[in-house]
Amino acid sequence: MQTSETIHPDKLHGGTVAAKRSGIGAISRVEELDRGYLCIGDRANLALSFLDEHLFRVKLTFDACPDWTTTPGVLPWEKTIQPSREDTERGFLFTTKKLSVRIDAEDASITVTDAEGNVIGRQTSFSWDARGAVTGCFAMDERSHFYGLGEKTSYLDKRGESYTMWNTDVYAPHVPEIEALYQSIPLLLHVHDGASCGIFLDNPGRTTFDMRSRSDLFAIESKTGDYDYYFIYGPELKQVISCYTALTGRMQMPPKWALGYHQSKYSYKSEEEVLALARTFRDKRIPCDVIHLDIHYMDEYRVFTFDSDRFPQPQNMIAELKKMGFHIVPIVDPGVKQDPKYPVYREGVLEDRFCKKLEGDVYFGDVWPGRSAFPDFTKQETAAWWGDLHRYYTDMGIAGIWNDMNEPAVFNESKTMDLDVVHDNNGKMKTHEEWHNLYGMLMSKATFEGLQRHLEGERPFVLTRAGYSGIQRYAAVWTGDNRSFWEHMAMAMPMVLNMGLSGIPFAGPDIGGFAHHTNKQLLIRWTQMGALFPFCRNHNVGDFLDQEPWAFDQETEDICRAFIGLRYQLMPYLYTLFHEAAQTGIPVMRPLLLEYPEDQQLSNLCDQFLLGRDLLVAPIYRPDTEHRTVYLPEGEWFDYWTGTPYTGGQHLTVHAPLDTMPLFVRGGAIIPHEPLKQHAADQTEASLLFHLYGGAPNSSYVLYEDDGLTYAYEKGAYNLLRVEAECTGRGLKLGYEYERKEYEPAPRKLCFYLHGLDPDAVTIEGLERLAAKPEDDAEGWYVDERCHCVVIAVRDDKSERTIELNW
Ligand code: GLC
Repeated sequence: MQTSETIHPDKLHGGTVAAKRSGIGAISRVEELDRGYLCIGDRANLALSFLDEHLFRVKLTFDACPDWTTTPGVLPWEKTIQPSREDTERGFLFTTKKLSVRIDAEDASITVTDAEGNVIGRQTSFSWDARGAVTGCFAMDERSHFYGLGEKTSYLDKRGESYTMWNTDVYAPHVPEIEALYQSIPLLLHVHDGASCGIFLDNPGRTTFDMRSRSDLFAIESKTGDYDYYFIYGPELKQVISCYTALTGRMQMPPKWALGYHQSKYSYKSEEEVLALARTFRDKRIPCDVIHLDIHYMDEYRVFTFDSDRFPQPQNMIAELKKMGFHIVPIVDPGVKQDPKYPVYREGVLEDRFCKKLEGDVYFGDVWPGRSAFPDFTKQETAAWWGDLHRYYTDMGIAGIWNDMNEPAVFNESKTMDLDVVHDNNGKMKTHEEWHNLYGMLMSKATFEGLQRHLEGERPFVLTRAGYSGIQRYAAVWTGDNRSFWEHMAMAMPMVLNMGLSGIPFAGPDIGGFAHHTNKQLLIRWTQMGALFPFCRNHNVGDFLDQEPWAFDQETEDICRAFIGLRYQLMPYLYTLFHEAAQTGIPVMRPLLLEYPEDQQLSNLCDQFLLGRDLLVAPIYRPDTEHRTVYLPEGEWFDYWTGTPYTGGQHLTVHAPLDTMPLFVRGGAIIPHEPLKQHAADQTEASLLFHLYGGAPNSSYVLYEDDGLTYAYEKGAYNLLRVEAECTGRGLKLGYEYERKEYEPAPRKLCFYLHGLDPDAVTIEGLERLAAKPEDDAEGWYVDERCHCVVIAVRDDKSERTIELNW
């Protein structure tokens, strides 16, 4: 017998009818609205709002009155500006001080020009189908380069690529054809002939960015939800990033310990193991601040518990670790084990905290604890409840939490929550299909805010795997389950560089690779590189070969110690860069093109990077390799290790045996260091060491510092210390000045390391030449043979000072 299913449309010749697509048609008039304009089209309307001289918002709408609410990715933005407006037969022109937007009357295309009339962006069409999928097409040509898009595989320039935004738990493979990973940052940066602009599509559902299919157009498509984008004009790329991060928020200053070295494993499984690990770091004098606890610390993977056999006294363990200068960061996943005897689950059900289907049933999915329910973080009370549950950890002395599996990952065919789960969103319901990409960020937001409430003035640290635009406000990001492959080490550079360009300055990969077996060379080379990434954590699966810095042999241990130590010596530089990122959104780790936008060689250079403006890092990322090419941009550069000067604008072949990594300093740079410490709060030898490199007639640097731990800096308790060097013809005038001094550091010395001076030809006014570094607080100058520097050591007891050097 056959049923009607035999003639199901899908089984008939021709299959389903192709979806018809519509476009806006002609624009007949423009209406002025409260926060902008409504361009009335034949089949849909375009809402336009000007948020700033170089920032406007476009929303496709079918209503007469557009809804200007945004997703939680965007910060409240009250201000709008009124552009001048001109209506002609051909179209409608809106002009701000920086740009003009013309909406074509005939076809609703949008053309953006700069103040000189150059076209900086053009949307040629909008189209949509009956199910609500919308496509916008935008003009590009052979001079277009694309960046941003957050955490994506492949190279730096995304030209010729196509990506999907759909937070996905990808254990494997992280290869160029994987279009979606854990994070979704729908920000596309388009650089064309030196002019940069950004398109940020604020849609946390499934979206795609296709820069591959056509050579004259790129397409941005949303599957569902609002087609609501922001056009951000630079012309400098840095201006676009600053504006995007003004819109989606910036990182707060993390606690300084979070900038230290982190050690992790899936999993360190007992108190003894964790304590032994910490002692090994201290015994071997390998600096480290953080130990992560992966899922085995819990009682059968129930979040907010410790396994009482393996971790019988977590509080004591944490206190002991704290004495040694370690912080513990335990993992917290969103899945709450279904178990009526487990208080978190019971409370969650009774208080209606979990995600549900429209019909009212709690949604369950399988994750590490088995069948689990998932908090609905879109609901204010649930977010507050979850945040407050973290008192369990803060009461034990924990200030950092690692959020994982928060795409959310579910062990099923779709890899995530059912799309028809509904999120409460405080009464303004959204389906999971519409808000999937927000789940992880809202979890980290609830976590961060909960920790803030319970840490009594201390800064929290949150690490997350999943995120959406704005995640930088709450968490650092690691790039998920990479493998111990050289290819993955190399890919981490463009990936984290693009994350930085996408507003996420605090990011890094699992050093050494998470899955698969690392080896001696790979661990060494990856540690060298990772030590100069913003986030620095070694993490792996315990079933594979161990990869703690001492896991192989003495040589590996020594090299890892040296490079982790380098990170600690550079901490004042790093911390100042984090402050810059918190203030402006400009990333800590930068592709060269960000600093040298005029240089045509740089559009896809991503096997070397800049740490801030002044340090150029060129890792060795292949096995059995001791040489590589390094490109030095214009200006003068110095080899960090030998001080050898080089003229920029050239490719160098650099020799880098296993114990070193090519590292260069920009001529004229002043790089602050501190003496080697074992952890961020280590008080041994308080001094600040400024390394000054020649190559420029004048140089200056402003160091930022605060207590590294609390929010006192927000109330003004921080210092800005300016160091300046000026060539005088007879020598050098070196000066420092506290532009602000509201934080009192421990009594210390300021030491100025002058590279490239002949000590025998120098006299320094008012300071005596010493035979060696003074042990006490004596002032004077001496020669440091290791770096061939003249070193001036003075007490940090004046608010400003000038020192004259003559030769
Ligand atoms: C996921 C995480 C990984 C973690 C593991 C166990 O795979 O990405 O970092 O170690 O889960 O919790």
